[in-house]
Amino acid sequence: MTQPIQKPRHKVAIIGGGHIAEQNHIPALQKLSHRTEIIAICSRDKSKARLLADKFAIPFAYDNTEELFSSSRPDIIINCTANNLHYPFTMQALENGCHVLCEKPPAMRALEAREMADTAEKYGKTLAYNFQRRQTQEYQLLQKCQQEGKLGEIYHVKANFLRRRGIPGWGNFTNREIQGGGALIDLGVHVLDLAMGLMNYEKPDRIVANTYNFLGKAGGKGLLGAWDPAKFEVEDACFAYLSFPGKASIMLSASFALNTQEAKNINLEVFGTQAGAVLHPFSLHTEFAGELADVHFPFLEDENIQLKNTIAFLDACDGQVSNICSAREGAVLQEIVENIYQSAGMFGQKM
Ligand SMILES: NC(=O)c1ccc[n+]([C@@H]2O[C@H](COP(=O)([O-])OP(=O)(O)OC[C@H]3O[C@@H](n4cnc5c(N)ncnc54)[C@H](O)[C@@H]3O)[C@@H](O)[C@H]2O)c1
Repeated sequence: MTQPIQKPRHKVAIIGGGHIAEQNHIPALQKLSHRTEIIAICSRDKSKARLLADKFAIPFAYDNTEELFSSSRPDIIINCTANNLHYPFTMQALENGCHVLCEKPPAMRALEAREMADTAEKYGKTLAYNFQRRQTQEYQLLQKCQQEGKLGEIYHVKANFLRRRGIPGWGNFTNREIQGGGALIDLGVHVLDLAMGLMNYEKPDRIVANTYNFLGKAGGKGLLGAWDPAKFEVEDACFAYLSFPGKASIMLSASFALNTQEAKNINLEVFGTQAGAVLHPFSLHTEFAGELADVHFPFLEDENIQLKNTIAFLDACDGQVSNICSAREGAVLQEIVENIYQSAGMFGQKM
């Protein structure tokens, strides 16, 4: 009897050994050990990289990417570095023949994200972005309702990623040079990706936006600790209105800090000609038998969305159908982020 041919496992290396690498990517990859083998961690500080590698029984640790590529020869890179390093390390990985799963946001500027997508195409490699909220049961059900015509034509989406007082006092979150911005580029991009998925990632033709920093600049203590107002260089809130050629629209709101009722609000509200929907908890709002009616789905289960997104990425690398955020979608999203910041007058202006 002939045995099925086993595909060789992907040799994965992780660049950036911080929070997201340790909490999300390494555990997901290790659950997929029939498809992947994590061979190396590369981080700025070699002793920290070694410590993390030892914790997960990963053989090699490096503090520079040149040595990583020449010694370990990975075929997949997971780019878990800060936003300003997404472009250079992703480009280097693609040029070294690797597929890349890059953390969000795609890059700092639209031009970079476009070049990253072009380079992936040039080398025939998969480049994708870790927008793992695509993998929730609720979002996939919403897409199914859309595909089955249950919502009719979607003409408006309200996308919120709001924190009432969630300015992190640690890390790079308020540093504009490293992050590229504040609430929009850190939080808002997640729900922008979901809303854009409902618009088939068509580009908007008009964007008007404002950003604010009143609360960030005032300083204080919030639900994520205290922050230093002198080092607050980004927007604490961003509100943007995106209009599409067919007249559909998205209202995007993102905040690190906002005088609002709830501690956080991460949700989509979708308005269609046949029904509306709320993402969390998932419900439909429509008419039934001549009356207004709501439909609830009480048996949706929580799933490991990082695991599902890592599987989607590996499927894309293996040439299978995948719902991962592609390099081209990432480039469109980055262009929208840039246009929002431009509309709000944030380029060339010190906050
Ligand atoms: N998808 C999500 O839900 C999600 C959640 C959190 C963070 N993120 C993204 O992940 C990225 C990293 O965030 P984090 O919270 O893990 O940050 P972090 O600061 O904890 O980790 C960043 C790591 O990069 C390393 N690094 C810095 N310079 C380097 C260099 N020159 N070479 C190699 N390594 C270098 C640092 O030493 C650190 O270990 C950010 O872009 C962030 O937006 C995504």
